[in-house]
Amino acid sequence: MEDPITQDGHSKAVLEKHQELPPTPPISDSCDEDAEELPVVPASSRPTVTLDVDKKTPDSHVPRDPRLIRLTGVHPFNVEAPLSALFNEGFLTSPELFYVRNHGAVPEVLDEDIPEWEFSIEGLVKHPIKLTLRQLCEQYEQITCPVTLVCAGNRRKEQNQVRKTKGFSWGAAGVSTALFTGVAFSELLKKARPLRKARYVCMEGADKLPNGCYGTSVKLNWAMDPNRGMMLAHKMNGSMLTPDHGKPLRAVIPGQIGGRSVKWLTKITVTAAPSDNWYHIYDNRVLPTMVDPEQSANDPGTWADERYAIYDLSVNSATVYPAHEEQISLSKADQSYTVRGYAYSGGGRRVTRVELSVDKGRTWRLANIDYPEDRYRDTERYLYGGRLDMSWRESCFCWCQWSMEVSIAELASANDLIVRAMDESMCVQPKDMYWSVLGMMNNPWFRITIHKQGNHLSFEHPTQPALQPGGWMERVKKAGGNLTNGQWGERIGNEDEDLQESAAVPEVVMTKEGLKNEISIDELRKHDNETDPWFVVNGEVYSGTSFMKDHPGGAQSIISAAGVDSSDEFMGIHSETAKAMMPSYHVGTLSSSAMTTITNGPPSNTSPTDEPRPTFLNPRQWCSAPLTGKRAVSSDTVILTFQLQHSAQTLGLPVGQHLMIRLKDPSSPSGRDALVRSYTPISSTTKQGHLDVLVKLYLDTAATSGGKMSKALHSLAMGATADFKGPIGKFEYQGQGRCVVSGRERHVKQFAMIAAGSGITPIFQVFRAVMQDRGDRTRCTVLNGNRMVEDILCREDLEALLEGNEDRGEVIHTLTKAPYGWKGLVGRINGELMEKHCKRDRDTMVLICGPEALEKSVHKALKEQGWDDEQILFF
Ligand code: MTE
Repeated sequence: MEDPITQDGHSKAVLEKHQELPPTPPISDSCDEDAEELPVVPASSRPTVTLDVDKKTPDSHVPRDPRLIRLTGVHPFNVEAPLSALFNEGFLTSPELFYVRNHGAVPEVLDEDIPEWEFSIEGLVKHPIKLTLRQLCEQYEQITCPVTLVCAGNRRKEQNQVRKTKGFSWGAAGVSTALFTGVAFSELLKKARPLRKARYVCMEGADKLPNGCYGTSVKLNWAMDPNRGMMLAHKMNGSMLTPDHGKPLRAVIPGQIGGRSVKWLTKITVTAAPSDNWYHIYDNRVLPTMVDPEQSANDPGTWADERYAIYDLSVNSATVYPAHEEQISLSKADQSYTVRGYAYSGGGRRVTRVELSVDKGRTWRLANIDYPEDRYRDTERYLYGGRLDMSWRESCFCWCQWSMEVSIAELASANDLIVRAMDESMCVQPKDMYWSVLGMMNNPWFRITIHKQGNHLSFEHPTQPALQPGGWMERVKKAGGNLTNGQWGERIGNEDEDLQESAAVPEVVMTKEGLKNEISIDELRKHDNETDPWFVVNGEVYSGTSFMKDHPGGAQSIISAAGVDSSDEFMGIHSETAKAMMPSYHVGTLSSSAMTTITNGPPSNTSPTDEPRPTFLNPRQWCSAPLTGKRAVSSDTVILTFQLQHSAQTLGLPVGQHLMIRLKDPSSPSGRDALVRSYTPISSTTKQGHLDVLVKLYLDTAATSGGKMSKALHSLAMGATADFKGPIGKFEYQGQGRCVVSGRERHVKQFAMIAAGSGITPIFQVFRAVMQDRGDRTRCTVLNGNRMVEDILCREDLEALLEGNEDRGEVIHTLTKAPYGWKGLVGRINGELMEKHCKRDRDTMVLICGPEALEKSVHKALKEQGWDDEQILFF
């Protein structure tokens, strides 16, 4: 007979088995007569089905709640609940709305395997221990207590507004509370008997991540101290842990950042030094504010400095009501409004005051604070099979809720509403943020702006999570305000003029001065050809004829645009310099009726009535394809897989050419601006049904706000579509040494291929075409420059292609930040290196792809060595 399934979606027999695990409690689970009522455990309806978006990810075994806001696209799963939904659940959070921070895929643990889940305690201990979860439940006393976990990145979106950090954008809901049941860490450690030199407890999870498993450490004396409340938990609000929260066993480290609470726990090692796990060193730190992303990348010493590691949480608070964009009618001006929110602190310290200001911090008033955690102190009982006894412990490990009545008339006369909290060590939230490269522990005053709109007030929170638009910080920044001017970027009177950022950079003029020539649709159509192509950008018509031979993307780039509105791709791809050249090619302004005709455009290629085409790309029209896969290949590089229209379809991209990808810019105020970039896919040009694009995720630096496209691609939801157009490019490799450059055929006997960073992708296409054809005797030398080992892209694929082809292929890597023991070359690609590895020869062609600075310096060096421009090709 089939095992009945409970409401939780678990097999009943398995649940019973699991519930059998803890010893029978001597005290009943019922309430004490004199105990104040305990906080209500929110009704939980555990999701039972996998959401469509997760089906194609490694987490396809994890059912989830669709209300959660995804902060890092589809996968890995990093989410927070909408702030009001989280707050409305009350003091405790249901597992399905509890924030999740997963660095990678969730390990799959079958219900029936839970009791036999093994973990060990080893290292500097007298009695190493190996235990199953069953033994942990049978042999040790079970305890239950409420704990608030907070991600160190909570409120990071605010930091990202000031200056992009290396972290993704949490709103203010990276905080959740549950009743955890398990065993006190100190009990286990006492059994294992740490040795004299032991100082730290390192923990490891079962997740498999690019840099090994997730691991971190805490101090041994904290773990031994029952006041610190550290535990190994297997239940959350009375049910077994859900997969996202560490099923079947996790550490719960109260009062410290969530990052120390290792999930899917397999190993505890007692050591003399802090954890050397990659995630302990390169995550969960607050580096000094002057270390910018660039510097931090070059400075492993700063990362390893244990002084910058975060343990205790700092004091923090946020207002939940008024919610973002909430409206209050001014007809109620004689009434009051209850402002409400949360606060927490770290290290077991109680939040001792919460203060509100409606005059920009000149005066403050005290809010009422409710401490639901205290209600558990007045009782001793068994709850969920664990002893709940907190009467002896003074520490506060949970968030508290605060409220204050403010008259609506007063809100109407204020511009903003600010909250700050203080804890028992008299640490108070600062007015200004402490920006740091990982954007963690963000805790400045939480400010909501108030706007009078007609007959109501509306409220604006500082930010909205993930890429969601909205919030006063984004608004102020867009208006040119300097968010760090000490006045939240707002100008007060004429003060602080000099602190304001300069206004937006003026647009480059792309039209010919004084030209007045209206162009009809018929006239434009006449130039929809390959010999005299005209194209349209922002309603202006340009002739590309005289530039066809010089266009870096080849004549095809212009021909593809003939007769159509190319505004998106032109504006997306071209530099200020290119735009400044446009007046010379300007021939007139499109008539308004012609504009309507071309913007309505030709019918989409992807309409369902379309005949299936053998190849996907069309140089004249955008074709959309859904995202079906996303795979991280390094910490900042992903491979995105898009599904073509049918399983036999190939991309239709000749070797050596590129395609354009178009996406809506999620950061544009209207959400309608397009981003267009060209890419060379890394899937083979003959691959059927799919297309793989390697995307290096460029993060913003202090100087630039780059990476818009890679961020948009990264946040593209599974199943969402991107538009593709192409091929473009002036170079094509047809095999056996035959190339076509700007329409002219040439034969080469050797390629010198110079690449850096993601510039390897077009080079890789050509290299693969040569190496995969055993009859192709063309020799290829790849000179690939990068900063660090982890920056080398397609390294294994390049090596695999070389196997058996060493007589005609060579791949040389050079690093500017080589690690100890690196066997490749060290330093930048320079003239000397090229002279040594790329011998000048009349039958050799140099293919170059990399950042502009590299392309320039390589070009200069090649010219000095006597290479002819005809032999050099820039992708
Ligand atoms: N443990 C493992 N094994 N892998 C992880 O990715 N993330 C950590 C911590 N433990 C993580 C982990 C971080 S950064 C946080 S904030 C908490 O788990 C989040 O716990 P939650 O997802 O249950 O809310």
